[in-house]
Amino acid sequence: MYIRILGSAAGGGFPQWNCSCQNCSSARAGRPGFRPRTQTSIAVSADGDSWAIFNASPDLRQQINENPALGSKADGRLRNSPIKAAVITGGDIDFIAGLLHLRELEPFTVYASRRVLDTLAANSVFNVLDGKAVGRRELPFDKPVDIEGPAGPLGIRVECFDVPGKVALYLEDAAGGPGFGTHKGDTIGLKISAPASGKHFFYIPGCARVDAPLASRIQGAPLVFFDGTLFTDDEMLKQGLMPKTGARMGHMSMSGPDGTITAFERLGVARKIFVHINNSNPVLDDNSPERKAVEAAGWTVGEDGMEVRL
Ligand code: MLT
Ligand code: MN
Ligand code: ZN
Repeated sequence: MYIRILGSAAGGGFPQWNCSCQNCSSARAGRPGFRPRTQTSIAVSADGDSWAIFNASPDLRQQINENPALGSKADGRLRNSPIKAAVITGGDIDFIAGLLHLRELEPFTVYASRRVLDTLAANSVFNVLDGKAVGRRELPFDKPVDIEGPAGPLGIRVECFDVPGKVALYLEDAAGGPGFGTHKGDTIGLKISAPASGKHFFYIPGCARVDAPLASRIQGAPLVFFDGTLFTDDEMLKQGLMPKTGARMGHMSMSGPDGTITAFERLGVARKIFVHINNSNPVLDDNSPERKAVEAAGWTVGEDGMEVRL
């Protein structure tokens, strides 16, 4: 199985268009150790030819251009794409907006939870993906699904499970209340496997908490891509960027007693890669003490273009 990180930043990317925080300014200035990143997505292939993308980021066009394996083939039909499916793990803008790049009547299949399919259906701009070319299929919970493109199965199996999280910002219940109107299926994690090789890994780009069911699911996993939004829950407040904590946004943070590093300490996951890293996160500076700390804890800070083979 071929796995490629197309993008590793959280919503807004790195640098973010309107941000002059220390990280964003450094990345914009090309300072060494501050590598720019596009918004989080991975591409997976069983055979190296046909690909499924996992989340469709607003940067998808750039990501396709930077990853030739995902580009149109000169020896194919005049119009062709190796992207045969898009699997979506939530309704956030940074997970769905890239679907709009995939218009042009190219056939592929969208997979998502019922909650996210309903969101796509309720936003008529997504009708630009003509139903004659682009199928939409529901991912049922806890049931393996063989991902299919227009010409049949891709050799990739996906099992979807609900994880603690939050409904997309633009769908938050105005009345507030616990969870802001979050329902099952608003944030999902995925077990992704290649039945032919028997290999598998987990993709969980958004998560508010490692609860007992999630811990037992990923215990001993060979590879997990996980929500790396913030290093500290209040870092955006402290930096004066936004009056929101990570917890308020539905993201657990890397550090602290309730943080990701602690939560994974006893899970025995062989390879742990942070994705969806917010531009405020000090680990984006290759030389920061926070970066050294997460690496010392056995984590890799995801980078665009990183490839993993299982
Ligand atoms: C998030 O990850 O919390 C969202 O992408 C935030 C947003 O929609 O800007
Ligand atoms: Mn996001
Ligand atoms: Zn910034």
